[in-house]
Amino acid sequence: MCDIIHFDKLNSTSVWAKENLEKLKDFSVVSCDLQTTGHGQFERKWFSSSENGGNIYVSIVLKPDNIEHLNELTRFVSLIGAKTLEQYGLKPKFKYPNDILIDGKKIAGFLAESVFVGQKCIGVVVGIGINLNLTQDELKNIDIPATSIFNEIGRNIDKKEFLNKYLDNFKNEYKDFLIEGLKGEILC
Ligand code: BTN
Repeated sequence: MCDIIHFDKLNSTSVWAKENLEKLKDFSVVSCDLQTTGHGQFERKWFSSSENGGNIYVSIVLKPDNIEHLNELTRFVSLIGAKTLEQYGLKPKFKYPNDILIDGKKIAGFLAESVFVGQKCIGVVVGIGINLNLTQDELKNIDIPATSIFNEIGRNIDKKEFLNKYLDNFKNEYKDFLIEGLKGEILC
């Protein structure tokens, strides 16, 4: 089982995980209710809200022995995100390299960041941002077309329940992924 370290508020779960990486075990999960400076790819801002039941801001620390398929990790965690969204009746599509869309609108983003000490990779921090309960008004703060599960199905989503489903899906497939890599092409 994994350790879940939860904060009410953080600058960024991924920044915190990277700063504390050496102390954290493989498969530690860092989560918070509100991020003040959450980031996406290319240091883009990741919108945060704790209104209306909140969103998911999570980073998973991974310290795999076999790093053969690490270049596919972002797609793997996106695939797990898509599977979890399907459990809520949604039809997610993958947009390369790290987005999940619903009808062309972004609902989730994933970012895998490797941490090096010298030449040695000491672990990877996988940041997961999923729009669970953003309202239409909040979605207007995002500078690209975006949606949330709440906006799609009109029901408030329990954060813990969603995170547990995501982590269960992740655990079911992670060991095989490390050995075999991604099986087949995903979504699109
Ligand atoms: C992207 O779409 O470019 C990736 C977005 C990743 C956002 C998540 S939210 C949790 C974690 N902490 C961060 O600062 N970023 C990731």
